[in-house]
Amino acid sequence: MPSNNDLVNQIQNSLDIVEIIGEKVRLIRSGNSYKGLCPFHSEKTPSFHVFPDTQSYYCFGCHKGGNIFSFVMRTEGLEFREALEFLAKRAGINYSFSKKDKGAKSLYDVAEMAAEFFKNNLKSPQGTAAQAYMKRRNLNEHDIENFMLGYSPVSWDALSVYLKKSGVPEKQILNSGLAIENKNHIYDRFRGRLIFPVKDITGRVIAFGGRLIDGEGAKYINSPECEIFSKKNNLYLLYEARNAMRKKARSILVEGYMDAVRLHKCGFTEAVASLGTSLTSEQANLLARFSDTCYICYDTDKAGQEAALRGMYILREAGLDVRVVSLPEGKDPDEFLSANPPEKFEDALKNAQPLVLKHLDFVKNMLDNPAKYNVGVKSFFDGLSKLDAREINIYQNKICETLMIDPLVLKNKLIHNKNFVAPVKNDTAKNFLHKTTLLNNDGERVEVDELEAGFCALLWNDPYCLKKIKPEEIYTLLKSKSAREIAFAILNEGADVLKTRWLEFNDEFSRNFIAIGEGYCSRIKESERWDKICKLLKETNEQNTFKNIYAKLIKGEATNNELNAVLTLNNYFS
Ligand code: CTP
Ligand code: MN
Repeated sequence: MPSNNDLVNQIQNSLDIVEIIGEKVRLIRSGNSYKGLCPFHSEKTPSFHVFPDTQSYYCFGCHKGGNIFSFVMRTEGLEFREALEFLAKRAGINYSFSKKDKGAKSLYDVAEMAAEFFKNNLKSPQGTAAQAYMKRRNLNEHDIENFMLGYSPVSWDALSVYLKKSGVPEKQILNSGLAIENKNHIYDRFRGRLIFPVKDITGRVIAFGGRLIDGEGAKYINSPECEIFSKKNNLYLLYEARNAMRKKARSILVEGYMDAVRLHKCGFTEAVASLGTSLTSEQANLLARFSDTCYICYDTDKAGQEAALRGMYILREAGLDVRVVSLPEGKDPDEFLSANPPEKFEDALKNAQPLVLKHLDFVKNMLDNPAKYNVGVKSFFDGLSKLDAREINIYQNKICETLMIDPLVLKNKLIHNKNFVAPVKNDTAKNFLHKTTLLNNDGERVEVDELEAGFCALLWNDPYCLKKIKPEEIYTLLKSKSAREIAFAILNEGADVLKTRWLEFNDEFSRNFIAIGEGYCSRIKESERWDKICKLLKETNEQNTFKNIYAKLIKGEATNNELNAVLTLNNYFS
């Protein structure tokens, strides 16, 4: 496995940017470069150029340019790390950021081998029952390839034995979640089930869902969480859906594996399923990467509708415009599309309700019941408290009419709920703004970083702090000249000596600098000051490094060393 240090080089050496871009853009040779229609803005004459010499691209129309990494980030909607993994896979480099055992086969290898095993088994005579089941559910051999469908034999250990024979240690089979240990024996988790492999956003198989085709047992079972699979961070068919989501500027979110598969088969390739759990904010953020609108189409039963209600607010909080699709009672998307042409589903999408109206509809039948009236109204306003007033105002009349309340009451409610305050996103950057200005001893206004001043104030007031830090660490923590000078003066001479000197030389700047720092410290609990301020300083530095390199990365100017440095800044990647 390559280290971070040479992964970037290795990828660049083994892939050709012309080939990678050529898959997305029709390129024509033009002198030493290639040109084509820009994938980032719409144009009729090509101004998008790819330069094999420098392995870079640039559009003279929209001025977007960069290297292989930024191209994949832009076109695939990936973060830098994901782009690396995506390209590593393309280059045949076995690499993953997740820790793994030193075994020869990674968990990704094991999952891939299992998917292959299940698929072959489905196509073999052993899979006859599963093939018959597929036929009943209107699935064909193209679907086996398109969705990598498979069948886990009715056997206690067929997969485990196969994997062991192929060189996977027992421990690794257990780690993958494909087998379960009991009394020193391991047996296959999936038996007699139609298998739906789940891929991550870069297209690697990471988990499985299995549908019982016959007999007793849970209808579906899923891979457990493991090193490579975290349910909350993945969506079924996301890898297959992401390009369509971008093209159609919408996503469709459903509950079940079969619902997602059916939608893809019927041309709604922007559909994903939420893996049998309630939707998480991480999943919502994944969807928000590819389009701005999400159609949520859950089952019509009570559980499905309640899940839709929770889901729509989670999607909204990820910044998505949410529509809730209603299908006729008792039909999930799979059943609906098995009985109706795709146009009917498109109609259902057209009639989908915006979030506010959907919630209003949901509580409507509670309102007739005096015992439930308050619960209904409360649930509605609790939901609304997450929205912007402008979003609610459009439906003012309808809300007042349905809840039988006076417009003034509604307005009061909204003010009480603080809907009129623009929602502030969780912006970590805000934590990094600690600037104020101060006159220096020459009467010029200079910028002072309160956080750095706070750090100096800690050194100033607490001799014990001096023991906790080495001079070279101060250099990495503090960036401004004034903070560094003051910190080193305290370190070298101690506060008492300085106090006298600053008075003697009328060094008001240094005294005020410490005062600003003390003011900053006073806002933090005393016992937490040192740790908190050091942590914030480190984060600010990382954030700045990250921002600088990121800006270069997007322009294609970052050196490989810088790209590798970014990889060590864990905080800024999901
Ligand atoms: N699910 C699960 N475990 C179960 C039941 C359901 O993980 N025991 C998840 C699966 O992802 C399933 C989804 O919840 O696809 C929806 O379940 P359900 O509505 O019960 O099944 P359907 O999708 O309608 O399944 P099918 O059409 O195959 O009957
Ligand atoms: Mn179903």
